[in-house]
Amino acid sequence: MSNGQRSALITGITGQDGAYLAQLLLGKGYRVHGLAPRRSTDTSWRLRELGILDDVHMIDGDLADLSSLIRAMEQSRADEVYNLGAQSFVGTSWQQPLLTADIDGTGAMRMLEATRIVNREAHFYQASTSEMFGLIKAERQDENTPFHPRSPYGVAKMMAHWATVNYRESYGMHASSGILFNHESPLRGIEFVTRKVTNAVASIKLGLQKELRLGNIDSKRDWGFAGDYVEAMWLMTQQAVADDFVVATGITVSVRDMCKLAFGHVGLNYEDYVLIDPKFIRPAEVDVLLGNPAKAKAALGWEPRTSMEQLISMMVDADMRRLGA
Ligand code: NAP
Ligand code: GDD
Repeated sequence: MSNGQRSALITGITGQDGAYLAQLLLGKGYRVHGLAPRRSTDTSWRLRELGILDDVHMIDGDLADLSSLIRAMEQSRADEVYNLGAQSFVGTSWQQPLLTADIDGTGAMRMLEATRIVNREAHFYQASTSEMFGLIKAERQDENTPFHPRSPYGVAKMMAHWATVNYRESYGMHASSGILFNHESPLRGIEFVTRKVTNAVASIKLGLQKELRLGNIDSKRDWGFAGDYVEAMWLMTQQAVADDFVVATGITVSVRDMCKLAFGHVGLNYEDYVLIDPKFIRPAEVDVLLGNPAKAKAALGWEPRTSMEQLISMMVDADMRRLGA
């Protein structure tokens, strides 16, 4: 921007990562703009919980609508664009595959086009995902591991990933793709397994719920804290040369062991409460994810700071507070 203040545009600002990233950028002195699709209910609870709702500039727009993205680029005069907006729940992507493809795949290309048309010098970040590894081809996945997505979500995100690489190669744009492994927080949506579990643990502890129904508890994920991961996003847009980076902890934990941690935090045994319900089993599963973040460490100086134990304790405590304990 002309007064020297940097401007950022975040799609998906009302989501978990969007809220933490907005907080980080505000702390660095950015003018922060957020693309907000029209919804019939208020979606700003995360921004309110972080106390930053009044500090961000919301722009009406949707990843389905190119004209709104061009207008958002013009209004925000963004130097940095973070494309975090998505239908991000893997389970839903089997029920709404075409919407997922349109928003997560074509939507990313629309955002790249809007950036190219309005300000091709802007630095672009694409929220790619470890779901692209799917049926894994290496024990520890890094930037060179071949992809094999296992859900319509993973397939759509592959398009967005390669579109980002392609705009970098076609137009010389500073477009980076962050291949982020699962990251969680007290602001995580309730449908994702960690938050579903921590919310249930708090409810059970307070006598508000009797059992917890889950799907495949033997799958394993490389889980980190979202607050740590948004720092990696920002570091990518600050590099002299755009590139792709795996962001992960390098540790994998089963859903079963995550349950053990969460129930154990309030002195309960998960085996007394968890039931398996076929309703939550997916048509195709990603059995295990384990990232190798060596490149991010070497090139960005990024490392995770929060352990799985700290993360789950933080989430259970937040849900206990929310439920009034
Ligand atoms: P999230 O909490 O589900 O947030 C998704 C955001 O996208 C919300 O702000 C949502 O708006 C917005 N959105 C949905 N449809 C849109 C549309 N048509 N136009 C514009 N915005 C739209 O997801 P998250 O966990 O913060 O993840 C952020 C991004 O990183 C996503 O792209 C996700 O796929 C990717 N990712 C996440 C992880 C992870 O573990 N969290 C790992 C790798 C990659 P509403 O609030 O109005 O619905
Ligand atoms: N959601 C959910 N609910 N998952 C369950 C359940 C349940 O009741 N029971 C078992 N699981 C298993 C899923 O089958 C999966 O193996 C694992 O728990 C994690 O599921 P989610 O928390 O829904 O996350 P995800 O790994 O499918 O996707 C998340 O991480 C991706 C990065 O790898 C999302 O944040 C994606 O947007 C992200 O790209």
